[in-house]
Amino acid sequence: MATPQTNSPTKLSVIGAGAVGSSLAYAALIRGSAQQIALYDINETKADAEVRDLNHGTQFTPSTGVEGGGNIEVVKDSDVVIITAGAAQKPGQTRLELAGVNTNILKSLMPKLLEQAPDALYVLVTNPCDVLTVVAQKVSGLPTSRVFSTGTMLDTSRLRFAIAEVARVSPRHVHANILGEHGDTEFPVWSSAKITSIPIREWVDSTGHRMFDDTLLQQLGDEAMHAAYKVIAGKGATNYAIGLTGARLTEALMSPTRTVFPLSSVLDGWHGLHDVALSVPTLVSSKGVERVLDVPLDDSELAKLESSAGKLRETLSSLGF
Ligand code: 2OP
Repeated sequence: MATPQTNSPTKLSVIGAGAVGSSLAYAALIRGSAQQIALYDINETKADAEVRDLNHGTQFTPSTGVEGGGNIEVVKDSDVVIITAGAAQKPGQTRLELAGVNTNILKSLMPKLLEQAPDALYVLVTNPCDVLTVVAQKVSGLPTSRVFSTGTMLDTSRLRFAIAEVARVSPRHVHANILGEHGDTEFPVWSSAKITSIPIREWVDSTGHRMFDDTLLQQLGDEAMHAAYKVIAGKGATNYAIGLTGARLTEALMSPTRTVFPLSSVLDGWHGLHDVALSVPTLVSSKGVERVLDVPLDDSELAKLESSAGKLRETLSSLGF
């Protein structure tokens, strides 16, 4: 459990009390990610019910509880606002197919949120989160350091889980990232992937046999990249892993310690990319995005980065951004 390292109260607001928003509030509550948690939804009955249910467990949690409902004033003076509201992916649907409807929702939501929480960091979880990060930043005029998305932080966790299962080590020992769009053009960065400090291709089993050949790496990458489709096909939504992702990110954003995750913010020259948001290793703290890191990429990874950026630019321009 992370303890916020500041003396002032820290407030997280979660926008949207659907499967993702409620799970995120639950994860933040039981991890103690923030001292105050608010859950807002336009559907007051749903928000009230979720808040009640969450608060009924606070005898057993480190946080004080959750406030919330259908009045946007619950968001007042938040330090971090995580947006999960909007249409969700249906079985077989791509994230980019949600761009039009969720852009319109976000355009009307952002000014109301800013009125309540003018100094907050804004985190987009609603899909397509990379596209919506650009929309939120342009609509709000906030500095790019204060508007970003969980991006491929979740996909990276999925990849690390898949690798850890094969190597039979804790996912914490796996250092491998998925970068690019949180969507179909994302890509694993194998050129720098390691288990502890051993390059992944050199990792051996107990008989000294190298385990991770190109076929297995391809399979593990595909598994992580298609994971959401599989979960959505089985139960209609993904919620727990993204809930934990949002809670862990909140802890980093409420801490003066600088932490690196693959996150998506509007880029200004990283690998020559401008005015597009996609995930790259990003150093964050209570100031928001402090720096995007210049990780080495091989030629094929650079080509995938370009193609991911191209796809996102295409969607942004179709929306008038
Ligand atoms: C996820 O990757 C659907 O974007 C959501 O779980």
